[in-house]
Amino acid sequence: MKFRSQRVSYLFFATALVLLVLQICFGFIMGFAHMGFDVLHDVITFNVARSSHVNLLVFWLLSGFMGAAYYIVPEEADRELVSERLAVVQWAGLVVVGVAAIIGFQFGWWEGRKFLEIPRPLDYLVVVDILLFIYVVGRTALSAERFTTTGIVLLLGLTSAALLYLPGMITFDSQVIDSYFRWWVVHLWVEGVWELIMGGMLSFLLIKLTGVDREVIEKWLYVIVGFTFLSGILGTGHHYYYIGAPEYWLLVGGLFGALEPLAFLGMAMYAVSMVRRGGMDHPNKIALFWTVGCSVMAFVGAGFLGFSHTLPQVNIWTHGTIITAMHGHMAFWGAYAMIVLAMISYAMPNLTGRKRYLGPLPEWAFWTSNVGMIGMTGAFAVAGIAQVYMERRIGMDFLAVQEAVEVHFTGVVLAAMLLSFGIGLFIWNFVQYGLPSDEALERR
Ligand code: HEM
Ligand code: HEM
Ligand SMILES: [Fe+2]
Repeated sequence: MKFRSQRVSYLFFATALVLLVLQICFGFIMGFAHMGFDVLHDVITFNVARSSHVNLLVFWLLSGFMGAAYYIVPEEADRELVSERLAVVQWAGLVVVGVAAIIGFQFGWWEGRKFLEIPRPLDYLVVVDILLFIYVVGRTALSAERFTTTGIVLLLGLTSAALLYLPGMITFDSQVIDSYFRWWVVHLWVEGVWELIMGGMLSFLLIKLTGVDREVIEKWLYVIVGFTFLSGILGTGHHYYYIGAPEYWLLVGGLFGALEPLAFLGMAMYAVSMVRRGGMDHPNKIALFWTVGCSVMAFVGAGFLGFSHTLPQVNIWTHGTIITAMHGHMAFWGAYAMIVLAMISYAMPNLTGRKRYLGPLPEWAFWTSNVGMIGMTGAFAVAGIAQVYMERRIGMDFLAVQEAVEVHFTGVVLAAMLLSFGIGLFIWNFVQYGLPSDEALERR
């Protein structure tokens, strides 16, 4: 590492991996419940497991993004963080809110709006914690002599993500209006500002790993930001089709939703062409695997599988079915989980000074987790298509259909075991790296 304060990112990466393990535990509880083995029903009901699963996902990804920012911003600003101590306090705040929220969920302390279940008092703490984070990275960037495009896109994404949390905190009596604003958070995050965070991280990793000129890489970053905004903002309409919102959203959502995959296609082409141009000479090949893999899996999961149910003619049948879980898993994995794992793979040798990227372990982690996720997505797709035909086309009873698709969840659970094996290897590799050390500081 170049600056000692970058080591704070280790805390965030370690936290992210612990929360990922917990997320997976709740995933298995639901997987088994879908197979017909809801043995924990009296202790952890499906809805509690579900909220814990998706909120842990958001928490570990945010922790990963923050860790990435604490690593990237000092390098892009060419200076230490303004305060490492405040960054540690901010980390502790994040952990406290996260733990309180997940424990609270188990006792029914929540708001009950999918993805935004965190109860109101904790929401305020989240806001304070994120303001502190923005302060530390923002002040560092502002007091730099010059700050790069990559850094600006990353911080723009993080700051807008913080601002967009606010519409999710207003309550409305009308279910329709409530949903309307919930999507400002959920959709505009994953198909808007989080894409900027992903773009910024991708650009940083490509600059470091391929050796292609920063000017070339950053020029393409502008194109991706352009595509994201062009399609993503009005693309929100693909969630307004049949919820009681005005009819024009069918056209607006259909059109702009269909354009959204372009930004992800752009990112995949971007990463692949930069690697072709710069070559694979960097010794940390596994970080490059995760980086390019992320751009490709994001295109398939978010772009391709998102497109598969974005048109109103299709969504009228698929809305609220297991088809959504099919897309949700690979999209979140490809775009956001993989970029965080790419960043961890790149940063760990630099933070610790140890070259643990050599040897078969990290490669096994990469392949087994990705093949596992592809398998899970396929099994969800089969279950989802079967559900749509039986429940929506033929009109069978909801619960009868859930029973009929139980068999497909054996596939989900088996593939999930492979994914978990891969993640286990990744974490084992992370542990082998050990703690950040001053010896890893680059002499300048
Ligand atoms: C490895 C073990 C995992 C298992 C067994 C699992 C299983 C499940 C199940 C059964 C559901 C509920 C579907 C329903 O509502 O009926 C679910 C929801 C979800 N999971 Fe997982 N999951 C796992 C890991 C992951 C990972 C690694 C991610 C992200 C990278 C993820 C992201 C999601 C998301 C976003 C949803 C909500 C989807 C929606 O809104 O419909 N899961 N998961
Ligand atoms: C990385 C980017 C993306 C992620 C992480 C993601 C994740 C998700 C998740 C978790 C849901 C369920 C949300 C909920 O019900 O609360 C969802 C819904 C949806 N996504 Fe995505 N998505 C991404 C990109 C896209 C793209 C690019 C498209 C269109 C091409 C798309 C189309 C849809 C549609 C139409 C739904 C609504 C499903 C329904 O309820 O009928 N998504 N997405
Ligand atoms: Fe969306």
